[in-house]
Amino acid sequence: MQLCKNDLLMNISLIGYMGSGKSTVGKLLASAIHYSFYDLDALIEKEINSSIADYFRDKGEIAFRKLEHELLQHTLTLPNTVLSLGGGTPVYYNNMELINNSSYSVYLQTTIPTLTQRLVKEKSQRPMLQHLTDENLAEFIAKHLFERRMFYEQANFILSTKDWDEKTITNLLLDHLRHQKILQQ
Ligand code: S3P
Repeated sequence: MQLCKNDLLMNISLIGYMGSGKSTVGKLLASAIHYSFYDLDALIEKEINSSIADYFRDKGEIAFRKLEHELLQHTLTLPNTVLSLGGGTPVYYNNMELINNSSYSVYLQTTIPTLTQRLVKEKSQRPMLQHLTDENLAEFIAKHLFERRMFYEQANFILSTKDWDEKTITNLLLDHLRHQKILQQ
C-alpha cells in the first residue's frame, strides 16, 4: 500500500489538541500502511533525555518550542512516515506551512467534553494544564481550542472523531485516504 500525490509518496501528519488520540491513531495507521511511525513528543524526550514536563519547568516553553520546530523540520524529511505531532506544534513558527508542504495533514477534531474527560486524569503530567483545577479545565480547553483552531483548520483533512474509539477513527481515515486517491491499494 502506498500514499501518493502527483506520483510522490506522501507522509501523513496527525494534528489536534492534547488527548485527541493522535499517537494511538498514528500507530494504527502506520501499521496498516506499513509506514514508520514517529511521535514528535517522544523524539523530543529522546533528544533532551528527560520528560517534556521537566524540560518546560527547567528551560521554559520558548526553548521547548524552538526544539520542537527543529525536530519537526528534521522529521518531515524522513521517508514513508506517519507523524503524530504535539498539540501546540502547528501553532508556532511557520510549522503549519512546513507540515502542509511536506505531508498530508489530518486534524483529529475532538469535542470539548471528550477532551476534558480524557485530560482530567492526565493533567498533572501535562505542562500546559498542570496549573488548572478540575473545575476550570473545560473552560481552559474551550478557550485554548478557540485560539488554536485557525491553525488546526489549515489541515488538508478534518476528521471529526465524535467519541469513537481509535480503531474506528483509523478505519475512517484509511477510507478517506483511499477515496481521495491519496492512498493506493
Ligand atoms: C502540548 C502538547 C503536548 C506536548 C507539550 C505541549 C501543547 O503534546 O507537546 O506538552 O501545547 O498542546 P500532545 O498533544 O501529544 O499531548
